[in-house]
Amino acid sequence: MTEFKSNIRTIEWIDNVSRMVDQTVIPYEFKYVDIETGQQMYDAIQTMIVRGAPAIGIAGAHGVALYALELEKENLSNPDFIEKLIEKSNYLISSRPTAVNLRWAVEKQIELVKNTQSDIKGIVQELIENGIKLENEDIEINKKIGDFGAQIVPKGATILTHCNAGALATVGYGTALGVVRSAYAKDNTIQVFADETRPRQQGARITTFELVMDKIPVTLITDGMCSYFMKKGMIDLVVVGADRIAANGDTANKIGTYTVAIAAKYHNIPFYVAAPISTIDLRIKTGEQIPIEERSHEEVTNINGKRICAEGVNIINPGFDVTPNDLITGIITEIGILKPEEILSKVSKQNS
Ligand code: MRU
Repeated sequence: MTEFKSNIRTIEWIDNVSRMVDQTVIPYEFKYVDIETGQQMYDAIQTMIVRGAPAIGIAGAHGVALYALELEKENLSNPDFIEKLIEKSNYLISSRPTAVNLRWAVEKQIELVKNTQSDIKGIVQELIENGIKLENEDIEINKKIGDFGAQIVPKGATILTHCNAGALATVGYGTALGVVRSAYAKDNTIQVFADETRPRQQGARITTFELVMDKIPVTLITDGMCSYFMKKGMIDLVVVGADRIAANGDTANKIGTYTVAIAAKYHNIPFYVAAPISTIDLRIKTGEQIPIEERSHEEVTNINGKRICAEGVNIINPGFDVTPNDLITGIITEIGILKPEEILSKVSKQNS
């Protein structure tokens, strides 16, 4: 446990492997795994060894570089190399459908491949360097999100968060927890309430782990408790991450976020989303069009490998839900805090 520091890299390219923190074993163990092939990367994303939208974006960029290293050994012609790499990249994108950062980062790599004049050896090198560049940018972006976000945290506030949008969901520092980190650096009387986040318990397992390690006061609550504490006046604002934000500001995040947003609106509590603009998908007009990942039923029927319900029960397990834009006070990005209705104009301008 003691090895974790929020300034570590959750995922890093080192000596032609992608080294990542294994998030399936936190908080019992803190260990790294080396991902050496494109297929291993697909599996690591799907089994959630690496998770969190920005982190799986970087995993996607690394995955393309790993596939390129493999294809380089096949002595293909340049067009065949590119065709096969695009095919593998599309396969990689299919490993997790909701978080758009995966598609975004893989497409950045493909764009590079399509526009370069380099030979295969040169392309491989450029893909590796681009992956490292995206890694470095992720941390800088999160610090900017943190600094913008800290401005809206009242003195001594209690911030409720759902799931894990921390250092471990990104390359480092975090988005929602980046806001917490920046706010705490200015005012060490703030504290966090962390939702457990069933079924996979990223809040209980990962968010509380990060914050305890950083000595930021955190209280773990189960998902059904949030409105109880809101009614008691014990929550001042909500800050969550995002997996995909539509052009109108509708936001997909971990299942249960929508419930928190409804409760926040009812109790007049500001509800903020913290995310890089790479999470904003202008190709999607509203949240209705966001694909929702359906995950294994065992995540619901079992806790720590032990079945908790009767055999024969029906199960549905959507991994994410969509919070409609009218429940969102603002979206904290690296270019400032945007109202949902400002997204289309401000982000299109930024992307042009
Ligand atoms: O299924 P997960 O653990 O990848 O889901 C993570 C979340 O929903 C996060 O809140 C989101 O990816 C933002 S991470 C900065």
